[in-house]
Amino acid sequence: MAYDRELAFIYRNPTRLIYGENTVNEVEQEVTGLGCSRAFVVTDEGVAAAGLAQRVEKALGKRHVGTFDRCIQDSSLQIIREASDIARSKGADVLVSVGGGSVIDTTKGMAIVLKEGGKIEDFAGMQSLTRPQTPHIVIPTTAGTGSEVTYFAVIKDQDHSRKLEFSEDHIIPNVGILDPTLTVGLPPMLTATTGMDAFCHALESIHTTQSSPMTDAMAMRAIEMVMAYLPQCVENGKDLFARGQQLLASTMAGIAFCNAQVALVHAMAHTLGGLFGVPHGLANSILLPHVVRFNMDVCGDRYVLVARAMGLDMKEIDAENAGVAVAHAISAFTAKLGIPQKLSEAGVPEDGLVNASEVTLTQGPMVFNPKYVGDPQEILGIYKNAW
Ligand SMILES: [Fe+2]
Repeated sequence: MAYDRELAFIYRNPTRLIYGENTVNEVEQEVTGLGCSRAFVVTDEGVAAAGLAQRVEKALGKRHVGTFDRCIQDSSLQIIREASDIARSKGADVLVSVGGGSVIDTTKGMAIVLKEGGKIEDFAGMQSLTRPQTPHIVIPTTAGTGSEVTYFAVIKDQDHSRKLEFSEDHIIPNVGILDPTLTVGLPPMLTATTGMDAFCHALESIHTTQSSPMTDAMAMRAIEMVMAYLPQCVENGKDLFARGQQLLASTMAGIAFCNAQVALVHAMAHTLGGLFGVPHGLANSILLPHVVRFNMDVCGDRYVLVARAMGLDMKEIDAENAGVAVAHAISAFTAKLGIPQKLSEAGVPEDGLVNASEVTLTQGPMVFNPKYVGDPQEILGIYKNAW
């Protein structure tokens, strides 16, 4: 059974991107270019300890008015409140995030609070903002989230063990500075799992109901680049060329999924992150082949594109068997990277799977999955396979 492709779509890609070694030094110029003069840096302790935030502060020179360095994994409502209060007291007119997805998403939340006032939780949801938010320059130190180019933020609500999703055109960052020298210190396992988040964005943007030829192009090239360069990044973290290619792949996959959305894999990964603290890239990496097998009877034609991008031998591959080939190749690829293959190895308790299945059904990305899922039992089957 084929599914209908959307015949109309919007393609957004408003973020100004600067790529290259040591481009971090151009941050002051970018601040000025935005018509701003008081830059507030947002980061986490690990990034600060590695000296990366200091490189940005130095490059900002007299434009630097303060730094918040206590971002945490998956962010939190409380952290956004605290950091926004400090940024406001410093008179910040532009935010510069330096870090991975959690730091960038925290800063997207701050951009809203600084502009709109009120509580960040009141803005959860889709497209409720009606004007540009506080300007935001992103300098990623990981290569997987693509958050520097997306209109999404995911923020943990610790009191309710859930993740709040924000989808707003007005939180797409204004500038992304892609400097591979900032990613060389990322440890091998984190490099591998965040790198697979990028792969997952690319694959999901190919199989969602919102995919288009424009997002397919970005996603397929991103998959090629992850296949070619992620193993090199894991093996030799100091390989700047490989790091740069992976960073670009992450951004390209980000552009793809900002427009084509993500689907069931991310709905499940967000659930496992919210309930059990499973790192996002790890959850995606484990779940991905299982979801491909689940979806393949309705979108085998899409997995032909993925197989081609993965460099599989296409002589024997068609819409009937592409899903099986892709799922198998993903598992082989992630096993070679040293990533755990089962949810049981990722801290997910078996007796939590039923609840996880029900929570997954309520997640936003579910509506974009190529195969309609209305019964939590179907999701439970996937969780069990992956456990
Ligand atoms: Fe993701």
